[in-house]
Amino acid sequence: MIKHLRSAADLDADTATLILDTAAEMAALAGREVKKLPTLRGRTVVNLFYEDSTRTRISFEAAAKRLSADVINFSAKGSSVSKGESLKDTALTLQAMGADAVVIRHPASGAPHRLASWVDGSVINAGDGTHEHPTQALLDAYTMRSRLGRIDGLKVAIVGDVLHSRVARSNVLLLTTLGAQVTLVGPPTLIPIDVAAALSPGTKVSYDLDSVLPATDVVMMLRVQTERMQDSYFPSAREYSRRYGLDAPRMRKLPEHAIVMHPGPMNRGMEIAPEVADSSRSTIVEQVANGVSARMAVLYLLLGGKA
Ligand code: ASP
Ligand code: CP
Repeated sequence: MIKHLRSAADLDADTATLILDTAAEMAALAGREVKKLPTLRGRTVVNLFYEDSTRTRISFEAAAKRLSADVINFSAKGSSVSKGESLKDTALTLQAMGADAVVIRHPASGAPHRLASWVDGSVINAGDGTHEHPTQALLDAYTMRSRLGRIDGLKVAIVGDVLHSRVARSNVLLLTTLGAQVTLVGPPTLIPIDVAAALSPGTKVSYDLDSVLPATDVVMMLRVQTERMQDSYFPSAREYSRRYGLDAPRMRKLPEHAIVMHPGPMNRGMEIAPEVADSSRSTIVEQVANGVSARMAVLYLLLGGKA
């Protein structure tokens, strides 16, 4: 088993499948009255968050607690980071407290790679800049497999602000490793030149959502990340929505069995209409629940559990 999960590229097909299978076993626990396993008793998991998070932070905490680990939640806001303390010194402090795993979210791409050279424990990337978010890709793959029965051969459209999306990058890497066919869809300004080929040679690009939808099993809508935009990438929110937003008439172009995903948080009314987000095709709430199982599996396997 790998020691760190810094990128979805750390996962070959066998390792990714083992994590998804383990997540399925963890999910079975969620239905039991006593949801805890004693597996990580005496181990310490630190959640080191330099950027805001709702789902990822809460689900890593729930996952570690369900495995009986001791959990330390560190958020940069309110810490000595405001006094200028560096990531390295913060990491060494955590190391002195005996962290077996550090879950890190950071605005700088590559922060988890740096961290791994400073601490002895496992490092898990919970989102670094515009680079990667590998546990999001795992929970997304898990959701696809549980809804559609497989990943191999699925046609997945990832739609919207690809340029700023670590979710898109990790999903392209993981899904293609597992045999899915990915198409990135969005305005040319938000799809970096050659990104598809650089990430994975089989990945396609389209600028026309309507033509992609009829042959799609999974449509994954991305949040328009205005907080990461310095320039103007499209004429207006209304125009973006008209071309690339998923509303009910557009959703009807999908095959009957297709599902609609979104990592959250959503801009309701911009990339996704409320009636689509709340429809029976939407897996958005399921994705959050699956996030706990997927993160339990990652912590369990990285910290030395057996399948
Ligand atoms: N929550 C995800 C992330 O942190 C997606 C998003 O923010 O749009 O990358
Ligand atoms: N999907 C996701 O990472 O959500 P948060 O930013 O709320 O953690």
